[in-house]
Amino acid sequence: MSTPTPPAAGLAPILAAALIASTAALPALAQNAAAGEKKAAMCIGCHGIPGYQSSFPEVHRVPMISGQNAAYIVASLQAYKKGERRHPTMRGIAGSLTDEDMADLGAFYESHGQSVLKAVSASTPPAPTPEVGALLAKGACASCHGADYTKAINPAYPKIAGQHADFLYVALRSYATPDNPHVGRANAIMGAQVKPFSRRELKAMADYLGSLPGDLRTVPQSRFR
Ligand code: HEC
Ligand code: HEC
Repeated sequence: MSTPTPPAAGLAPILAAALIASTAALPALAQNAAAGEKKAAMCIGCHGIPGYQSSFPEVHRVPMISGQNAAYIVASLQAYKKGERRHPTMRGIAGSLTDEDMADLGAFYESHGQSVLKAVSASTPPAPTPEVGALLAKGACASCHGADYTKAINPAYPKIAGQHADFLYVALRSYATPDNPHVGRANAIMGAQVKPFSRRELKAMADYLGSLPGDLRTVPQSRFR
């Protein structure tokens, strides 16, 4: 990686603008949530089981994707397919999906589970400890992920509030491993974001973000309607 990395806060708006431009250039695909529901049959064995753990490459809970932004679901499936995200199982699964499948699955999962969503209180989220508050400020995390970490500035960015903390920690560490062919994630924006932090600091932020109220859910198959 030869790209120089200026301080995170200075880089953030430039990278954000670049990503917005690149997602705007994607061809618009008609999204079909009903078609996505059928295609999700191959996802529920992991994403539809509350607390389900992935054991390879390491043990952590499988991310909640019901309620996640459709554009982010598509972006991450594309990243697995292209190999920018190296998780072996998800690479295999995403590799079998067409652009249309991804659009349908994104539309389905974004709307999925709305009927079981408890109203998230409109009140401001619990304040972090001073240490975690300083870390989040240093990374300017809210400038992209939103003040409540649910309303990101771009739908291709993930909702992270209330996501499983152990998964958030694995994801953050993945961005710190951009070059290994077998593990990690190559992502210019988040790769730069995680650089200034130690593992302990990443874990502290993941624990706080995971404790927040949010829109993400695991919706078991029996609740499908
Ligand atoms: C065998 C279990 C398994 C199956 C089946 C599976 N996934 Fe996954 N999925 C995972 C794991 C584990 C991760 C976390 C990978 C990582 O660390 O990047 C993941 C990550 C994801 C992500 C990224 C979430 C995020 O917040 O970054 C999306 C989107 C996703 N899966 C969608 C799907 C879809 C859609 C299907 C069905 C077509 C599916 N998955 C099938 C286990 C599975
Ligand atoms: C410049 C905008 C920007 C900033 C600042 C930013 N993020 Fe991100 N974040 C993103 C984008 C874009 C992604 C999706 C990357 C991808 O596709 O893998 C992301 C992904 C993530 C993920 C992965 C979520 C998942 O479901 O896999 C976590 C966790 C995360 N960010 C936490 C943070 C934290 C903590 C900070 C502050 C230290 C931060 N982000 C700062 C834009 C940003």
